[in-house]
Amino acid sequence: MNKEFSFKNYKDFSGQVEIESPGRINLIGEHTDYNNGFVMPTAIDKKIYFKLRKNYKGSLCRIYSETYNSSFEFSLNKIKRSKNAWENYILGVVNEMQKLGKQLGGFDCILKSDIPIGAGISSSAALECGLASGLNELFDLQLSKIDIIELAQRAEHNFVGSNCGIMDQYASVMSKEDHLILLDCESLDAEYIPADFKNCKILLLNTRVSHSLADSEYNTRRQECEEGVRIIAGENSQVKSLRDVDEQMLEHFKDKLPGRIYDRCSYVIEENKRVQKAAKAIKNSDLKEFGKLMYASHEGLQHKYEVSCPELDFLVDLARDKDFIHGARMMGGGFGGCTINIIEADKIDNFIQEADKTYFNEFGLHPEPIIVEADAGTIIHKN
Ligand code: GLA
Repeated sequence: MNKEFSFKNYKDFSGQVEIESPGRINLIGEHTDYNNGFVMPTAIDKKIYFKLRKNYKGSLCRIYSETYNSSFEFSLNKIKRSKNAWENYILGVVNEMQKLGKQLGGFDCILKSDIPIGAGISSSAALECGLASGLNELFDLQLSKIDIIELAQRAEHNFVGSNCGIMDQYASVMSKEDHLILLDCESLDAEYIPADFKNCKILLLNTRVSHSLADSEYNTRRQECEEGVRIIAGENSQVKSLRDVDEQMLEHFKDKLPGRIYDRCSYVIEENKRVQKAAKAIKNSDLKEFGKLMYASHEGLQHKYEVSCPELDFLVDLARDKDFIHGARMMGGGFGGCTINIIEADKIDNFIQEADKTYFNEFGLHPEPIIVEADAGTIIHKN
């Protein structure tokens, strides 16, 4: 680390631009975003906080994370992939800005985070979108919110190597306080629905496992869905994605699709319908129906899409027979991370205790409880 960049303290650094960049949850609609389907995420009150300023040192950029006590620097003239995973989110964003012909100058950036890492609540999208929003303001790059969302997604594809959909970046940037987003990932039309869970709260239980399969299996699922679309489109050229396929059409192709591919496609088509039903349920304040759809989503992810794991299944099973929990399911890409539970507020403490005890007996780990609120997307302050 360069001596001149020796500030080790977020509080004492004066930024020209400050950004609050949130993580996200997803109520329902998993693995549908990259299939042009529907999702229902929102940003949460767990965030990455950035301060940025121009350093007038040519092309030198210096980044320091207070939370991880880790820093690095790079030159704008030589952006290449790093061996340290988190640096690639930063480098990837700068790289994508340069590809758009945007002129950056040297800058210093300090950040801190209260988003648990590896919990599947999109610290990566928060990092990418937060930096992109900060640089956009600092250098007046004239990028729209959608430009920032798409640029952050490309950074993840090209520098991090995960072929993610658009849900996480969209939720991190576009959310509104106390609202869920019903997002159509084909048109990017969004409907904001009040996140009215009555006497309930949203409780995440972090399994504290992140199976190494996660990234490779994610990309494999995406390919399996594309394979299904390719086979169906071979006979029906109108079909461009699983969004264009309904249950009847899928049945018609059942014999032509390998069993595994059929199951993947079937899950996605059913999940899209569940998201739309869930939107109606929450608008009608029908938490029971909403919860049923969450459990059905988990079943599909467990058995048809096969992205769950024993730890997630255990925590969902524990919730299932409790009448004070309206719904629970795994959340995010899968193979670890969190379950999301809609639970009556006054029962939370007891349930956390029970989950802690039984999960520890089974897996030798303590699940991490995280209570979250639906919150606003990226917030920008200029000094
Ligand atoms: C990850 C990806 C998202 C989405 C979810 C699964 O969070 O980043 O784009 O595909 O998995 O729903």
